[in-house]
Amino acid sequence: MTKTVRKAVFPVAGLGTRFLPATKANAKEMLPVVDKPLIQYAVEEAVEAGITEIIFVTGRSKRSIEDHFDRSVELEAELEGRGKTDLLAEVRSMLPPEVSYLYTRQAEPLGLGHAVLCARPAVGNEPFAVLLPDDLIDNDDRPGCIAQLCEAYARDPASYLAVQNVPADQTDRYGIVSVDDAGARVSRVGGIVEKPKPAAAPSTLAVVGRYLLTPDIFAALERTPRGAGGEIQLTDAIATQVPGGGVRAMRFEGVRYDCGSKLGFLQATVELGVKHHEVGADFRAWLATRG
Ligand code: G1P
Repeated sequence: MTKTVRKAVFPVAGLGTRFLPATKANAKEMLPVVDKPLIQYAVEEAVEAGITEIIFVTGRSKRSIEDHFDRSVELEAELEGRGKTDLLAEVRSMLPPEVSYLYTRQAEPLGLGHAVLCARPAVGNEPFAVLLPDDLIDNDDRPGCIAQLCEAYARDPASYLAVQNVPADQTDRYGIVSVDDAGARVSRVGGIVEKPKPAAAPSTLAVVGRYLLTPDIFAALERTPRGAGGEIQLTDAIATQVPGGGVRAMRFEGVRYDCGSKLGFLQATVELGVKHHEVGADFRAWLATRG
């Protein structure tokens, strides 16, 4: 099995009802944090890790994602004509020539596990990353979360889950793992359960939206019945890899914002806003006037 991870799957078929009406006619993944859509943060994190095939699992009303990762000849001509060379370079750098973009549809909303299974023909028999763009993980200029998972995979091939501790009353929002050594950066997973109530949770170590999976996950997904919420859960398929010792949890470095919630989205906007190269200083000064 190859030690290089070349492909990443982005499940982006969800409706984004928590952000209505903003998401009525627009993909939630296109909501911008400062000046970049959420999906672009996740794609850049994958590309930075060396991934060259971006596989989107899309649904209806997601055309704007396809347009975003395509050249806009009119826009480039306009920027060139007006001498806006910085913006032109930025727009062009979004599409590195070695990276390709594939789109496949999830026709029915049957859950995250089902969305990943839809990518099977595009992934084939090799390890792959999964990124949920609702989770924005900021790591300044240090290696991003997917790069950290890829590096661990190259040393010790297995399925990897990015995890972090969450408040005990929030376990029912996440996949929760139990691990051999809760203090270690990378630890073997002994069990995983989807969205347990706090009283039933094996720990407070929660899976965030970054996975690196071995391809046997597809056969497991095919056998996975509907679980929590009546959906085919990725967590349940990962649970079948656990007994063979094939799953690791990584306490990654970086700050994660839950941009699937309004509060997390606002926090990301403020934190990335104050660091922004163009508006950061003015934004900080303005925030200071508000006490
Ligand atoms: C999904 C997964 C869950 C994981 C979470 C991370 O849940 O099912 O295990 O912890 O993403 O963001 P969702 O947020 O789609 O309900």
